[in-house]
Amino acid sequence: MKDVTLKTATAESVIRCGAGAFEAYAPKLNSRQLFIITDGTVNKLYGTHLSSVFGERPKYVIPAGEKSKNPRVLMAILKSMLEAGVRRNSTVIAFGGGVVGDIAGLAAALYMRGVRLVQIPTTLLAQVDSSVGGKTAVDMDGVKNVIGTFYQPEEVIVDPVFLNTLPKREIRCGLGEVIKYGALNAEIYKKLLKNIKKFTRAAFLEDITYDCIRHKATVVQEDEHDLSGARKALNLGHTTGHALELLYGKRSHGEYVLIGAYYELQIARNFGICVGQYAENLEKLILSVLKKVPSFDVIENAASVAAHDKKNDNELISLIVPKREGQSVEMKIEYGKYEQYLKEISDNLRNKND
Ligand code: NAD
Ligand code: GLY
Repeated sequence: MKDVTLKTATAESVIRCGAGAFEAYAPKLNSRQLFIITDGTVNKLYGTHLSSVFGERPKYVIPAGEKSKNPRVLMAILKSMLEAGVRRNSTVIAFGGGVVGDIAGLAAALYMRGVRLVQIPTTLLAQVDSSVGGKTAVDMDGVKNVIGTFYQPEEVIVDPVFLNTLPKREIRCGLGEVIKYGALNAEIYKKLLKNIKKFTRAAFLEDITYDCIRHKATVVQEDEHDLSGARKALNLGHTTGHALELLYGKRSHGEYVLIGAYYELQIARNFGICVGQYAENLEKLILSVLKKVPSFDVIENAASVAAHDKKNDNELISLIVPKREGQSVEMKIEYGKYEQYLKEISDNLRNKND
């Protein structure tokens, strides 16, 4: 087991990483007043185990899935916290994937202007990304993460044991974010290329999760509130990925991140930003997880969704694209051109996939 410490101007998070972290650190929370937030699927799998570790504690169970990440569910959680007598020194435990982590983090930030928060991520995506760094949010009116705040957990317990029950599709979803880190960090990139056939092995996942967390912690320490541009890099693949996710649904967030990364890589290639063997290797990494990149009908609509992305200004769409090993850049592409490239890439994929 290894710790990563993430220090910002106002907070410090300790991230406990590795097999055995849950058994070692969760019982230490028992002296506190706890309020657990989880989802229906996770509760079915781990509710009994949670009770055996924490005893009977007040708990709010949201329906599993992105649809729960909304203001109505947030208010229901806050009401339940009030009814349970949660106090300022109580601790909210977010036990689940990124959906639970995002909404529970926001509830913890809002309740009595902020109560203590511990994240216990149970999906690969939440372990490598969403549980670390303090972004909390719910969606509203079809706009993703539009209501949220930065609120650092004081502790994150990242234990690969929870991945044993995670469906393969959700592992792929987390690998989407892992490959994103590969496009941002040269060491992770090299490790991924070297282990391209071993991505789903437990030992590899435990090791790479630690690397991703360390990378994210460094970036968040530099730019906690997404102001200087350093943290923006973590959105590689996300402009197109989020737009497609909102328009087409069905697939998971991480798959859309990878699909977005593929489309944006092709755009970067067209502009000569990411070329040669490096671009080919990144494509290989993406395809090793996705197998087949989908084409989309009326993909042009993704451009107008992307235009509403928080990162954009005026008529330019902001994309974070890979440049060379360990280096990404922000490119601003004119709306019409972006629309045209999306369509061309999708048409090429349709011909290839047919
Ligand atoms: P999720 O929370 O919906 O989990 C995916 C599915 O896996 C759910 O059905 C869940 O019930 C199930 N599940 C969770 N743990 C399980 C386990 N151990 N065994 C079996 N099933 C399990 O989705 P996610 O992919 O974890 O997270 C996606 C969310 O994270 C999105 O809302 C996205 O916006 C957000 N996100 C936030 C940040 C951030 O920095 N805050 C970063 C990336 C993504
Ligand atoms: N997942 C993007 C971020 O945390 O900034």
